[in-house]
Amino acid sequence: MKVVIGSDHGGYSLKEVILPLLKELGHEVIDVGCHNEESVDYPGYADLVCEKIDKGESDMGILICGTGIGMSMAANKHKGIRAALCSEHFTAQMSREHNDANVLCLGERVTGPGVAMEIVRTWLNTPFGGGRHQRRIALFS
Ligand code: RB5
Repeated sequence: MKVVIGSDHGGYSLKEVILPLLKELGHEVIDVGCHNEESVDYPGYADLVCEKIDKGESDMGILICGTGIGMSMAANKHKGIRAALCSEHFTAQMSREHNDANVLCLGERVTGPGVAMEIVRTWLNTPFGGGRHQRRIALFS
């Protein structure tokens, strides 16, 4: 799968943990930055990730900031993006099964690296359930 990942400075260290995991899992990865801990504005990185998905250049996206909140707010402004902020395994699984989330948001200051890696594994491996869930996400305006 093609996976695009982006972070601000608050999520940079966790992005550096997630990147090798994605490669180890065999995904084709696009890293849109940021590339160090210098302060940057997260909405620009959310836009870069969402645009790759909008254009069909990536299948799924991962966005990381300090809490994951700003990234999820910015990503969900994009039509066709269903971004899920997850801090544990169950919501990561449900966001795929029930909501067909195409962007996973993580908060580096909330979720430790071990749990974040489990969330990423689960999220990427869980298929969308379809059926009634497809009808419901089709109702999003
Ligand atoms: C940056 O300090 C912080 O505000 C940002 O990473 C994020 O948590 C915003 O939602």
